Amino acid sequence: MGRRNLDPEDIVRYEEGGPAVVLLDQRRLPDEEVELECRSVAEVVDAIRDLAIRGAPAIGLAAAYALALAAELGADLEEAAAQLAASRPTAVNLAWALEQMRDEPTPAHARALHEDEVERCRAMAGHAAELFHDGTRALTHCNAGGLATGGYGSAVGAFRTAWERGLLERVWVDETRPLLQGSRLTAWELENAGIPHAVIADSAAASLMAAGEVDCVVTGADRIAANGDTANKIGTYSLAVLAAHHDIPFYIVAPTSTVDLATASGSGIPIEERSAAEITTRFAARNPSFDVTPAELIGAIVTEHGVHRAPYAQSLSALV
Ligand code: MRU
Repeated sequence: MGRRNLDPEDIVRYEEGGPAVVLLDQRRLPDEEVELECRSVAEVVDAIRDLAIRGAPAIGLAAAYALALAAELGADLEEAAAQLAASRPTAVNLAWALEQMRDEPTPAHARALHEDEVERCRAMAGHAAELFHDGTRALTHCNAGGLATGGYGSAVGAFRTAWERGLLERVWVDETRPLLQGSRLTAWELENAGIPHAVIADSAAASLMAAGEVDCVVTGADRIAANGDTANKIGTYSLAVLAAHHDIPFYIVAPTSTVDLATASGSGIPIEERSAAEITTRFAARNPSFDVTPAELIGAIVTEHGVHRAPYAQSLSALV
């Protein structure tokens, strides 16, 4: 397989000519690289809802570009922001990015936010790599790669930097049912980066841990409450419980745009329920898309400012 290095503007960008918000359609990866051109706010809202673009920082960036598009089209900005904010409820980055754009809804401002987000990833990857040691075998869930952050990645960014420093042996990639962000997107990104990895069924994590084949678990986050409780893709909580049982450190890597000090604890984080049809169309189903990992199961939260340890109410309070 050839290596494909994505630039930030390959993931999401603003095009003046159309004008349009253009994004790499993540639903089609890894089989096809197809761009989706969104020429209205409603089209961006649909793209976010349908996961054509997904991952907490990346949907924030798509919303930022969409607000610039709304301004250029002369649309009602309050209405546009309300529609974008409601497109997915769990990741706080959406509301964060819209708030940042409020006073200056221009393409240049959205691009500056995009550059900042990628810079944050590089900084947090540098800090997170300090948690790795020679020959680390890390396990991850969902996709916290460049696709999810607009470039470089949070958890995957940590793997990139640890790999460059010679500290990473391999990454175990949870498939991530039901939509397979792990086996479709994270595996593709790691392959493109030349980082050794193997996809596992989500349910295989416990036995790999018991066999001594996992040195740490590293994931991204969709929202981190003031006390450190962290929402991420459904299945993250069970990994944290398993890691605690096997005495394996569990780390979150996420930018400060994901930290929500206005939400005191995980019980205040809205959890998106997606269509039951994503699980099965044959039987009744429930499809909560995220879960909350309690702070006491998290060994460290890494942001662009450094490695933060419990008690998180203190270590996170100075951040935002
Ligand atoms: O439903 P998704 O694919 O948007 O879920 C994404 C995740 O749960 C990621 O782990 C999270 O957004 C962190 S991305 C850096």
